[in-house]
Amino acid sequence: MGSQKQGIILWLSGLLLLNIFLFSRADVHSYEFFLQESEFTKLCRTKNILTVNGSFPGPEIRARRGDTVFVNVHNQGSHAVSMEWEGVKESIAGSDDLIQPRTNFTYEIKLSDEIGTLWWHAKSAWASATVHGSFVILPAANEDYPFPAPTSDQTIILGSWFRQELTEANETIAPGAADAYTINGHPGDTYGCRNDTIYHQQVDYQSVYLLRIVNAAVNETMMLSISYHSFTIIGQNGAYTRRSFANSLRIAPGQTLDVLFCANQNLGHYYMTARPSSGGRVTTGIIQYTTTGS
Ligand SMILES: *[C@@H]1O[C@H](CO)[C@@H](O)[C@H](O)[C@H]1NC(C)=O
Ligand SMILES: *[C@@H]1O[C@H](CO)[C@@H](O)[C@H](O)[C@H]1NC(C)=O
Ligand SMILES: *[C@@H]1O[C@H](CO)[C@@H](O)[C@H](O)[C@H]1NC(C)=O
Ligand SMILES: *[C@@H]1O[C@H](CO)[C@@H](O)[C@H](O)[C@H]1NC(C)=O
Ligand SMILES: *[C@@H]1O[C@H](CO)[C@@H](O)[C@H](O)[C@H]1NC(C)=O
Repeated sequence: MGSQKQGIILWLSGLLLLNIFLFSRADVHSYEFFLQESEFTKLCRTKNILTVNGSFPGPEIRARRGDTVFVNVHNQGSHAVSMEWEGVKESIAGSDDLIQPRTNFTYEIKLSDEIGTLWWHAKSAWASATVHGSFVILPAANEDYPFPAPTSDQTIILGSWFRQELTEANETIAPGAADAYTINGHPGDTYGCRNDTIYHQQVDYQSVYLLRIVNAAVNETMMLSISYHSFTIIGQNGAYTRRSFANSLRIAPGQTLDVLFCANQNLGHYYMTARPSSGGRVTTGIIQYTTTGS
């Protein structure tokens, strides 16, 4: 009887060890976010916006499937803010509480089976316009992509830009209210302002790129395309999807899309364009083939 029990215990602890061996690859990552006011010039006008660490869009979080991420958010701004970890399935302690100015709070984000691209942002619309970034979830260490591995991946964050200051008065932002749209923070060359910068992505002929697209534009469905190129959609909102093909991508506000695109055209420069589905101004970026590649 006793030895049978011991046997079972041995067997169980063997299983446990095997589990630890198989699943011990999950890592823990720690990020420090400093919410602060920073000065930016776009559309020929300089203003202060709330940012994480002075960057627009904010820093990228990168982890693998099943990892745990700690994000210590220090509020050095003048408004209470709370953060949303869009698409994370496990509930996150404290995510309904405001972080008061001059205090900090550490979120513990436990990933389960999310894969691909998610994003984080401030909860209120006015702050979320400038306080946001991507949350990239790579396959686990012992896992492959379920498609040919891309040469590299690149995050494309679509944002909106307002000439006016945004404050707590702007808790909701109506579609069409933005003065410009941005690709990774760049308004491009269509707004008639010499100081505006344009997003550039270098590509090698015949290489395949995984674009991780986040629509962080407040309350706007965005259309994205690259002239003469098409996309294979492989994921959405932190999950793989059935593959589909598209010349133009439609992304609802707050949604993410993972797409493959092959640099298979003649060497040259091609426009990437983003525009709100309701019409209105087009924002440009440039896909630039490197001429030295094979
Ligand atoms: C934010 O800035 C702080 C202080 O400069 C730095 O220690 C931290 O690593 C930065 N965080 C990220 C995510 O870049
Ligand atoms: C605030 O930040 C300090 C130093 O980075 C850290 O030790 C502490 O745990 C943080 N407090 C909270 C509530 O996250
Ligand atoms: C934000 O609020 C200010 C003050 O009430 C207002 O003047 C401005 O038009 C609002 N901006 C947007 C984009 O709604
Ligand atoms: C989006 O726009 C609609 C219509 O104007 C409005 O009712 C809603 O509150 C807005 N949402 C946000 C997050 O601003
Ligand atoms: C725009 O750029 C010009 C030339 O580089 C510079 O002199 C000017 O101060 C800039 N304007 C703003 C608003 O930053």
